[in-house]
Amino acid sequence: MLIRYKKSYEKIAMGLLSFVPSEKDLKKLRQTMKRYEEDDDWQLYLWKQGDDIIGEIGVHLDQNEAFIEHISVNPSYRSEGIGHKIIQSLNNILGNEIHLTPSAQTKSFFDVCFNLEKKS
Ligand SMILES: CC(C)(COP(=O)(O)OP(=O)(O)OC[C@H]1O[C@@H](n2cnc3c(N)ncnc32)[C@H](O)[C@@H]1OP(=O)(O)O)[C@@H](O)C(=O)NCCC(=O)NCCS
Repeated sequence: MLIRYKKSYEKIAMGLLSFVPSEKDLKKLRQTMKRYEEDDDWQLYLWKQGDDIIGEIGVHLDQNEAFIEHISVNPSYRSEGIGHKIIQSLNNILGNEIHLTPSAQTKSFFDVCFNLEKKS
């Protein structure tokens, strides 16, 4: 289940974000978290499975587009289809009015997801 980020999830959200290649530097990581907390156009969603938060996705909204800036899944749960489910759920939450678009960093995974959807 995809839920909106709130401050009480700050530590787990930062931990997941740190797996994203562009967020390896602590200063950059803190700036990114601040942006998700303070800028309404930057929205972070967490993937909750049972009681655990095991993935997240962050988007930057610009008019009717949502750019996927960050996506991350806890390494213990990778290759189980969770990343794909996160993108699908976000697409459902945003609805038809808002178009999901990958950033340069998330494009290769996004393309894999949409090719899988076409095959199934
Ligand atoms: C990218 C990520 C979110 C995928 O999560 P996941 O739950 O493992 O994804 P799924 O199980 O739905 O799909 C897995 C498949 O996606 C593909 N894939 C994974 N990472 C990819 C990437 N960076 N580019 C292209 N395809 C990728 C692979 O085909 C993989 O299949 P395999 O495990 O058989 O090799 C996860 O690998 C992750 O957190 N990576 C570190 C953070 C990161 O690099 N994020 C930004 C780049 S997208």
